[in-house]
Amino acid sequence: MIFLEVIAVRMTDLIEKKRDGGVLSAGEIRYIIEGYTRGDIPDYQMSALCMAIYFQGMNERETTELTLAMAASGDTVDLSPLGELTADKHSTGGVGDKTSLVLCPLVASCGIIMAKRSGRGLGHTGGTIDKLESFPGFSVEMSRERFLENARTAGFVIAGQSGTLAPADKLLYALRDVTGTVPSIPLIVSSIMSKKLASGAHTIVLDVKTGSGAFMEREEDAFTLAREMVSVGKLAGRNMAAVVTDMDQPLGYTVGNALEVREAIAVLRGEDVPDLKELCLTLGANILVRSGAEKDETAARARLERCIADGSALGRLAAMVKAQGGDERAVYDTSLLPLAPVQRTVAAPEDGYVTAIDAKGVGHVSMLLGGGRATKESAIDLSVGVVLRAKVGDRVQKGGELAVIHAADGESAARAEAELLGCYRFSAEMPQRPPFIRGIVS
Ligand code: URA
Repeated sequence: MIFLEVIAVRMTDLIEKKRDGGVLSAGEIRYIIEGYTRGDIPDYQMSALCMAIYFQGMNERETTELTLAMAASGDTVDLSPLGELTADKHSTGGVGDKTSLVLCPLVASCGIIMAKRSGRGLGHTGGTIDKLESFPGFSVEMSRERFLENARTAGFVIAGQSGTLAPADKLLYALRDVTGTVPSIPLIVSSIMSKKLASGAHTIVLDVKTGSGAFMEREEDAFTLAREMVSVGKLAGRNMAAVVTDMDQPLGYTVGNALEVREAIAVLRGEDVPDLKELCLTLGANILVRSGAEKDETAARARLERCIADGSALGRLAAMVKAQGGDERAVYDTSLLPLAPVQRTVAAPEDGYVTAIDAKGVGHVSMLLGGGRATKESAIDLSVGVVLRAKVGDRVQKGGELAVIHAADGESAARAEAELLGCYRFSAEMPQRPPFIRGIVS
């Protein structure tokens, strides 16, 4: 009882210190994270501290200490048995984001081991694990030994999130979610980077999205987040790069689990899906250069292109699907992937240029069709979604094909059509498009 009171008083001092703009020491930050993870510090005090951090911010050293304390709050993965060439990637989340499905096999085919943990989708954004489960039989549950063994033999492995990695983040994220303290740069940096540091890869690349469909809508906020994550990762001894990319419209042409797997396979077969391929080459080249496997970006991109052209990247995907219990034949014969029974073409309502496609809106259409989760427990239909036929800057003619909706039945397809049309904007003038890749921080 007395013990609890002592802790309560000290935590109050620390909340007041941060509330008044003070700087927390490394010891104080460790005390907070260890105490909160053990359950000694109650949610109401941690909420107050998060709000104080939201308003007062943290300096770079505080953010680094917070990240390290959160990374050390649970298990850490030791990838050293796999050697130095290990890499990981994180995206701040977007609509139609199937980048990992292309990037991981592509980089693995160049000899860099991708040992990754990924999440399921919630709300309008999809999760890599749901997408991979489009391969019949595919599993993301495995022991730690199996994780390392698959990484070694297949060149890459994607497992589900482990509750024992950075448990402080799990607790804190749930708290921030209900206390209005998610959009705080130090709290986001420490949340993302604690999980990445605990996952053990030597090289980490980050895809920080900006625009209407992104977490960081303003480009300057996306760059601040990118710079801080790169800085914390470097201070923790990792090779780091962050690419800031556009999420003003969905990435690529497909939104929906199995549809996105098909598109990823198309890129690995050599098809050019403009923004998606460019993103994978940029992230991949940064992994190769930062990890020391290639001397510069030009050489790295050429090597990645060769691995697509000679089929080795696609072969890596098949090896990984097989190693995780999935039917690898679907990599070469995509008719084995789930396909929705109804496909409804959406016609352009007018002549003109497409000037905007609301990414969050398209994500919502896919969710309404059954492709996304409204709650963590919802079951999802892997076959449904949207194939965009026209993207921003494309010219369309009234009655021409704008999109194809993949649905479980005609009724949901009709509802989705009305909503999808509301996501498009048209104009007689060709729109000015900012570059897809806004910049690289390293
Ligand atoms: N993603 C995370 O993992 N944490 C955040 O705080 C925000 C996005």
